[in-house]
Amino acid sequence: MGKSTFSKVDFSKYFQPPSLKDARRRRREPVHIINNFSIPEEMKTIGKGKNYLIETYGCQMNEADSEVMAGILEAMGYRPTEDAALADVILVNTCAIRENAENRVFGHIGRMKPLKLEKPGLIIGLCGCMAQEETVVNKVLRTYPQVDLIFGTHNIHRLPQLLQEALFSKEMVVEVWSKEGDIVENLPVARHGHFQAWVNIMFGCDKFCTYCIVPYTRGKERSRRPEEIISEVRDLARRGYKEVTLLGQNVNAYGKDLKDLDHYGLGNLMDEIRKIGIPRVRFMTSHPKDFDDHLIEVLGKGGNLCEHIHLPVQSGNSDILKIMGRGYTRERYLDLFHKIKNTVPNAAFTTDIIVGFPNETEAQFEDTLSLVKECRFDGAYTFIYSPRAGTPAARMKDNIPMEVKKERLQRLNRLIDQYASESNAKYQDQVVEVLVEGTSRKNDQVLSGHTRTNKVVNFVGPKSLIGQLVNVKITETKMWSLDGEWQREPEVAGK
Ligand code: 5AD
Ligand code: SF4
Repeated sequence: MGKSTFSKVDFSKYFQPPSLKDARRRRREPVHIINNFSIPEEMKTIGKGKNYLIETYGCQMNEADSEVMAGILEAMGYRPTEDAALADVILVNTCAIRENAENRVFGHIGRMKPLKLEKPGLIIGLCGCMAQEETVVNKVLRTYPQVDLIFGTHNIHRLPQLLQEALFSKEMVVEVWSKEGDIVENLPVARHGHFQAWVNIMFGCDKFCTYCIVPYTRGKERSRRPEEIISEVRDLARRGYKEVTLLGQNVNAYGKDLKDLDHYGLGNLMDEIRKIGIPRVRFMTSHPKDFDDHLIEVLGKGGNLCEHIHLPVQSGNSDILKIMGRGYTRERYLDLFHKIKNTVPNAAFTTDIIVGFPNETEAQFEDTLSLVKECRFDGAYTFIYSPRAGTPAARMKDNIPMEVKKERLQRLNRLIDQYASESNAKYQDQVVEVLVEGTSRKNDQVLSGHTRTNKVVNFVGPKSLIGQLVNVKITETKMWSLDGEWQREPEVAGK
């Protein structure tokens, strides 16, 4: 193989293992806004006649990052392909949140070896959250010589230079910055959708929940300036986009670091975006601790602000929540839940739940079940706790066997399924607004889209409806989707 497993880069300069103390200290360092991104002249045509493929694992932040990488590659002349055999550059954008997500990526890059043997000029890059972990990078250096390039979440804007190095170097190119601080504003974006768009409003997370790797892989909280966000949303509206999702790991902390603005938070931002002529605005992910009354009041104004709240609870037991470092109790979560529900009565609620946190007792787990019964969530992402090296929880001794954790997950999922079916059943015979996103995965004669409350709706209709908001009458409800009939607009007499 052409590449040796030798890093060109002095590791110690870039890497530190996850350290709570260092990460917390970094929070106080200033944020710089970079507005002068450009592609070096000699790199502008380097991708002409060549193809790229980006494979994305994990959350919406990764999806958004992949669209930026695609934008950069397209500005260098590369064209997208879905076929790995036709690709000249493959980037694997990874997720570090749980061990099984990481194992999937290792399996995948392992299977890429033959591609590289067939096409020695192929560049394989590993990026995203896993690249921020020193153990992962060492493992790739040792075991996966087919990888040519590793870069992290803080230096995506360096992709042109890094790709240039990878193309002309015989060694694996590794550049990972453990220290963030910058917001790069004018990066090109090749958006995947033509009517739905992700809009980052902030980066990083300062919450340091004891189980979570994100504050180490994504760095400290940095908010984009409101005027930049508003002008991006206005531009999307002008270009015919129908829906934006405002993104951040903890969107409710938006604005806390914008010290020159007087208490400007997510409520203020949403109140301004509400006035922009774009039909649907969503936001995620929320943290119950920072979800304030002003935001609730603004959500109550409705309009283009969609009635779907993703509000991760993680556990229904206050002692576990305390050890998780979540900063709220069961009672406070429930108060917040009911307050939002009273102000936005038609809102759909979804959540994230972790079972089997170290030493979680049966009684503590049952508190989670009883909270689910009280909230009757429309849906939930449920996970078995996965220890992440370097996080405080990973150092806790755990006396709960995996069999018990698996059995709890099954019991929880049965309850979640029950409420998902019940909440969908309420839609029977209702007429709902659907943003038509495309054809159904199972049948291309069937169109598919989402309601404002984020329910999947399938119905038969002409493909010309794709990208439009239409009314659909629900005729059958299932656990995770709704079937319906398209309500054709009445013809205007004389036309
Ligand atoms: N183990 C299991 N689940 C986790 N999550 C975050 N870290 C872990 C972990 N170490 C879950 C949380 C979070 C979602 C994105 O992933 O529920 O809200
Ligand atoms: Fe992780 Fe907690 Fe931050 Fe969410 S709020 S990204 S769970 S540390």
